[in-house]
Amino acid sequence: MRIVKTIQELRTAIAEAKSNHKKIGFVPTMGFLHEGHKRLLHQANEDNDIVVLSIFVNPLQFGPNEDFDRYPRDFERDEQIARNAGVNILFYPSISEMYPEEPMMIIQVKKGVDVLCGASRPGHFDGVATVVMKLFQLVQPERAYFGMKDAQQVAIIMNMVDTFNIPIEIIPCDTVREQDGLAKSSRNVYLSPEERNDAPKLYEALQKASDCIKKQTCTRSDVIALIKDDLQKLAYGEIDYVDVLSYPRLEPIEELSGKIIVALAYKYEKARLIDNILVNAATGKEC
Ligand code: PAJ
Repeated sequence: MRIVKTIQELRTAIAEAKSNHKKIGFVPTMGFLHEGHKRLLHQANEDNDIVVLSIFVNPLQFGPNEDFDRYPRDFERDEQIARNAGVNILFYPSISEMYPEEPMMIIQVKKGVDVLCGASRPGHFDGVATVVMKLFQLVQPERAYFGMKDAQQVAIIMNMVDTFNIPIEIIPCDTVREQDGLAKSSRNVYLSPEERNDAPKLYEALQKASDCIKKQTCTRSDVIALIKDDLQKLAYGEIDYVDVLSYPRLEPIEELSGKIIVALAYKYEKARLIDNILVNAATGKEC
């Protein structure tokens, strides 16, 4: 595995791979790797000749009162995981390498950001789109892998690739969960033991909602109320949002039909967790 920290080194490594006609699979991350990231790396390995992993905690996507400084970091551990996962090139740039000065321009995401995390984290997806665009320009992969735990992010990146005619295939990968259903997240380390015990109830609430959609007796407001009701009973934390939208357009739909996302964000003391499920309203199956 090659560890590269500068853009110049990365460009050289990519040029070499391209000249050998290698297909590149790319997994962008902010590090503190877990099973969710490993799933993406595994898929990238299956589909491509070369796997590029980036680890960069992108300041542009954090709001002023968010956890940029506290975001968990452990490069040595990540390096080991990356080696074991068969990564060929690990790009680990500094902030000054990625942003030598305040960027002259950023990408402004216009659609699909007035809901879910976009609504509670203004500017977040502009920061995500901008850094992913930069990384795409540098890595020039054939395919890039994103987790459905961040379903809104997947929808936005797919729109970006469409809007700017970027010749990269976006591969969404299923959410990896703990045994008790909690979605794996780098931020789970912030949970107190009591909160950690409580947290699987988030996924349980989503599953209950999915059962209700399956029976085809619920409206959008019923589903939202059902989840909020469950979450309000939790001993710790508070609801950030609960919503039911069409996917990937992320539009409110009173009549539940087609592909639907049921999504929530929940704030514990030091960690804001998100989770979602996608349901096909016609078949009632999760998808
Ligand atoms: P990060 O939170 O590190 O996540 C990197 C990738 O791993 C994302 O595509 C995310 O959806 C995926 N992922 C995280 N937890 C997962 C889980 N439990 N199951 C499956 N996939 C999971 O998302 C980001 O970083 C950043 O916004 C980034 C795209 C790197 C831009 O800075």
